[in-house]
Amino acid sequence: MSTPQSLLIRHAEIILPNGELMVGDVLTSNGQIVKVGSEIDSAGVTQEIDAQGLTLLPGVIDPQVHFREPGLEHKEDLFTASCACAKGGVTSFLEMPNTRPLTISQSALDDKLQRAANKCLVNYGFFIGATADNLPDLLSAQPTPGIKIFMGSMHGQLLVNQEEALEAIFAQGNRLIAVHAEDQARINQRKQEFAGIEDIAIHSQIQDNQAALLATQLALKLSKKYQRRLHILHMSTAEEAELLRQDKPSWVTAEVTPQHLLLNTSAYETIGTLAQMNPPLRSPHDNEVLWQALRDGIIDFIATDHAPHTLAEKAQTYPNTPSGMPGVETSLPLMLTAAMDGKCTVAQVVQWMSKAVAVAYGIANKGEITPGYDADLVLVDLKNYREVKREEVLSKCGWSSFEGWNLTGWPVTTIVGGEIVYDQGQLNTQIRGQALTFSKS
Ligand code: DOR
Repeated sequence: MSTPQSLLIRHAEIILPNGELMVGDVLTSNGQIVKVGSEIDSAGVTQEIDAQGLTLLPGVIDPQVHFREPGLEHKEDLFTASCACAKGGVTSFLEMPNTRPLTISQSALDDKLQRAANKCLVNYGFFIGATADNLPDLLSAQPTPGIKIFMGSMHGQLLVNQEEALEAIFAQGNRLIAVHAEDQARINQRKQEFAGIEDIAIHSQIQDNQAALLATQLALKLSKKYQRRLHILHMSTAEEAELLRQDKPSWVTAEVTPQHLLLNTSAYETIGTLAQMNPPLRSPHDNEVLWQALRDGIIDFIATDHAPHTLAEKAQTYPNTPSGMPGVETSLPLMLTAAMDGKCTVAQVVQWMSKAVAVAYGIANKGEITPGYDADLVLVDLKNYREVKREEVLSKCGWSSFEGWNLTGWPVTTIVGGEIVYDQGQLNTQIRGQALTFSKS
């Protein structure tokens, strides 16, 4: 595939910014959308795609992924992960700091940005991780979507769970703070109570709803005290959703993962430790309350928390098994299948997986199919269903928690900066994404 200067996508079912559907054409030039119309003249166009029968969406921006590089490349690296993104219609991602070394300084951030420039097929941004004593780095690091705090579920330097240490971070600066909200003291206490149990299902009881609620309450309290921009990562419980429904300051956002909407504790019986993640899977009741909160705008957007581990690591015995599952290849088809099942609309999926993320993080010119916006696009097939198959997974971990699920909305073509990075099973590994910038950070 050569590098096109202009690309004309013809006869697509285009999801417009107002959520309406229009059958027509989109012209991109030098990485930007230049025209959206019912019939665009193809004179002088370098490359054309006939998108008859396909739906054109803005590319997905996945605001929470763990891509393991540097230091944990046996699980994933920025190249394999970005290939998986391209296949899944994810054209931009925001990555978390729990790599080795941890991303807790400007130099570690610069190293990741350099690695990504060398090997990422899609656009990228990296969080700076909070420790109890890196406040100067948290205030000055650039470019970053924000500060990531592990209030629980993390050992080592990245765990910041004492109120005093948290308050010191909330009190200074104004950039976005994204929290993994689980209460470590409660988790520690329950680990002791349930010590010796090797049944994976106990994971959801050890790191229970109360552990999540306590941490979210504390983060909200500090955010309100300092009117500090707060984002609650992978919200998992009905209790947290109800808390936000009662009291959600205008400067607070929250996200949910497809797995917390679509899987629950019954998954332990079928896929065992492949269902283990933090925060853990919850009950069918939690699934329903989270869906409603998402539809009502209490939860703002979707993230995958793509967190791959090898099958060998997952084959150990609980509690020695690591938490996390891959997500970027399946998130869009999972959500579009839910839309086809009547859980939501396709326009809502676009809002939750592209537009709302761009707005929350101040990522300019992304998340909409509008002239002047970046040509990060995905053409999906909403007419056919196909099973998730282990042998087709591109993530280095080589498995999915959704194997056997029959999904529609699979990406057919993914476009990053006006260039075709994935087309009908083929990747163009020559394409490179760009570093994202964040006007709100
Ligand atoms: O399940 C999880 N795994 N949740 C996290 O927040 C971290 C992640 C990981 O890095 O493995």
